[in-house]
Amino acid sequence: MDMVTVESCSKSYKKNKEVILALKNISYSFKKGIFYSIMGPSGSGKSTLINILGGLIEPDNGKVLYFGSTIRGDNNLSKLRNQHIGMIYQSFLLNENMTALENVLLPTYINHSYKSIDNVVRCRQILQELGLKKRENHYPKELSGGEQQRVAIARALVNNPDIILADEPTGNLDKKNEEYVFKLLKKLSTDGKCVIVVSHNEKILKYSDINLELEEGELREKK
Ligand SMILES: Nc1ncnc2c1ncn2[C@@H]1O[C@H](COP(=O)(O)OP(=O)(O)OP(=O)(O)O)[C@@H](O)[C@H]1O
Ligand SMILES: [Mg+2]
Repeated sequence: MDMVTVESCSKSYKKNKEVILALKNISYSFKKGIFYSIMGPSGSGKSTLINILGGLIEPDNGKVLYFGSTIRGDNNLSKLRNQHIGMIYQSFLLNENMTALENVLLPTYINHSYKSIDNVVRCRQILQELGLKKRENHYPKELSGGEQQRVAIARALVNNPDIILADEPTGNLDKKNEEYVFKLLKKLSTDGKCVIVVSHNEKILKYSDINLELEEGELREKK
């Protein structure tokens, strides 16, 4: 089943008079239950692709389909993003004025699929699984880079998304946590989620089912 599809998508950025073509006419369908890794040099368009798949930026041309359909209207897109997409950003994007627990709780407030009474319990459970039980009342600036990264992972997973988009999710983690996160992402894919992970870390290849390479804005399957 197609979870998210890009059809002939291009994206360019204009800066002063220069135009940078970040993605060149990319078409690809990401399926249910598959773990995709995306590798490629710095500046090859990986974050741009992740942001397009997550509905954060619109392509200049082409279409993005979720579960086989285009989404019309900002409200529908926001709802889809909240309920079906979990994003782990390259720079975490945690709310600095909220504790770890509050950051993870945030997406649950706008999702009415769960009883609110269960939300705190669920958030604490996820934080505990990611080794942050003793850090739930800390603010981001009181956390190490790796701890912030794991809070960002917890926040992405709290609404049980069908599509997980992660941009360098292990960039700040030690070996033990790195392995834990790759295993967790693998398990999510075997549970039927569509997992798409940008990484410079070759170890991901041990876990991913399909390895994609982005080079100068062009996407290719490698294994
Ligand atoms: N907002 C922007 N304005 C202008 N140029 C941009 C903007 N965002 C990205 N770019 C350019 O588009 C290209 C692709 O950027 P992108 O962030 O997608 O690369 P990346 O593959 O994620 O790189 P990295 O591995 O360093 O994170 C780069 O050349 C970058 O300089
Ligand atoms: Mg990037």
